[in-house]
Amino acid sequence: MESNKYENHILIIFAHPALQKSRVNKVLLGAVRDIESVTVHDIYEFYPDFHINVAKEQKLLKDSDIIIFQYPLFWYNVPALLKEWQDLVLTHKWAYGKGGIALRGKKLFCAITTGARESLYSKDGFNRFTIQEFLHPVSQLARVCGMHFLPPFVVHGTHSLTEPEIISHSEDYRKLVIALRDNKFDLEAARKFKRLNEHMDKVIIR
Ligand SMILES: Cc1cc2nc3c(=O)[nH]c(=O)nc-3n(C[C@H](O)[C@H](O)[C@H](O)COP(=O)(O)O)c2cc1C
Repeated sequence: MESNKYENHILIIFAHPALQKSRVNKVLLGAVRDIESVTVHDIYEFYPDFHINVAKEQKLLKDSDIIIFQYPLFWYNVPALLKEWQDLVLTHKWAYGKGGIALRGKKLFCAITTGARESLYSKDGFNRFTIQEFLHPVSQLARVCGMHFLPPFVVHGTHSLTEPEIISHSEDYRKLVIALRDNKFDLEAARKFKRLNEHMDKVIIR
């Protein structure tokens, strides 16, 4: 891990059980892999048998300022290994509870892809709830652990995206991650939007 040449160290906890079949996450991940002061941690690659090394994961978290959970939405939730990771890694008296201050003050957000279009995520839409509502469990775990939960980066309608559209989303993701690393990110402005990639020009400080 680099010394503190940059303002922030970013940890991407990446969870996709079939990366070889991925169209979107593969490209998003490819756009951020080489950024300095960013660690991409593919948990399905590390733990195909679900045997998570808790001490290693906690060390990675401790060494980071900003944590991103990147995953395809599966049944309105995180993929199974990311749920297992949350259950095992975010332990009592370490992440929360008496003396559990390891994550306090860090930032957390989700970078999600969804098969369904954005319009289907609304009160009157097919999925009945917004993406923000489906993220309440992650938002609440962030709060209990003393972390600042940011709006998500969301790519909707993955099945109908063209290659240029996927590349454009990946460029936005890269710009966002670099801005966060360099503290060129307006947190207050971001909180007003439902997605970090809704108005990139308003959240990234030039
Ligand atoms: C098991 C499973 C569950 C899924 N559940 C949802 C879902 O709840 N909502 C949704 O919009 N898309 C859902 N999808 C579609 C995925 O989110 C979509 O295939 C993925 O975001 C595409 O990203 P990729 O190209 O990186 O694989 C599901 C797909 C699978 C395989």
